[in-house]
Amino acid sequence: MHFVCTIVIPRGFAGLSRELWYVLNRRGTEILPVRILTAEPAWLGNTKRMKMKMSDQKSEKFFDQTCASGYDQLQTKLAPLRASLDALTAAILSDLPADARVLCAGAGTGAELIPLARKFPGWRFTAVEPSAPMLEVCRRKVEESGIADRCVLHGGYLDSLPASEEFDAATALLVSHFILDRADRVRFFRGIGKRLRPGGWLVSCDLSADTSSSEYSSLLDVWWNIMKTAEVPPEAFDRMRESYGRDVALLPPGEVQGIISSAGFGRPVQFLQTGLIHGWYARVPA
Ligand SMILES: C[S@@+](CC[C@H](N)C(=O)[O-])C[C@H]1O[C@@H](n2cnc3c(N)ncnc32)[C@H](O)[C@@H]1O
Repeated sequence: MHFVCTIVIPRGFAGLSRELWYVLNRRGTEILPVRILTAEPAWLGNTKRMKMKMSDQKSEKFFDQTCASGYDQLQTKLAPLRASLDALTAAILSDLPADARVLCAGAGTGAELIPLARKFPGWRFTAVEPSAPMLEVCRRKVEESGIADRCVLHGGYLDSLPASEEFDAATALLVSHFILDRADRVRFFRGIGKRLRPGGWLVSCDLSADTSSSEYSSLLDVWWNIMKTAEVPPEAFDRMRESYGRDVALLPPGEVQGIISSAGFGRPVQFLQTGLIHGWYARVPA
């Protein structure tokens, strides 16, 4: 879909953008093909973005300035959940060569990149991230961590990443569930696979559930209890829950596994479930 209208919100009022979006796009019924931007110079200067499809805009819509500022705070509050994901990701990839090249697709603020870079001091990273505010936080943290010389940060999607030497591994943590269309989601993983060497590793995790099952409503109660420990207000949790199935493709674990396989990877192995978060690793056939 192409946008008929762009609303630009001054940087100081960036917090309004999400509310405005909810008013204009109620419950997934996109009344007007409207896009909402905060006045980030890097975004406004790029006319190519105006031609993007609605699905491509999701990450910018969600991962705006406000989100980027609060993302790490929430991650810190949810640190016990994140710890197992980070530990397992490092364990899965620990046999990679000392000078491995790792692609972080949807790197966000660097939540997986920074711990991996600290643990494996010879590894080099390429972070791909379409949200300018998220990438900016990532850039700052990369510089503060003293790892900038081992990192390439790419603002955009994977398809615009210049060709380079093959990667030994890739991460896509909490990313693919934002791709609503199944074929696009397969394409996302296929795009990652094409950048990996034969035998290269993918570590991926997404929110996943069989929303038609009775377990789902039970698990949502647990999810809410987890969010409460992170001081997420009830109305924010309601918005989160409403977004599941509408803005977040909450698919049963077997379907996500099937999507990864359809993208050309060997059989994905589920290594994690923390609440709604499910993790898989898979390899490009050697
Ligand atoms: C929930 S964050 C996860 C960030 C990080 N991987 C982590 O584990 O904290 C999802 C990120 O994926 C990015 N994203 C969304 N769709 C994407 C796509 N198709 N390709 C690459 N990144 C995408 C968003 O901009 C956002 O920064």
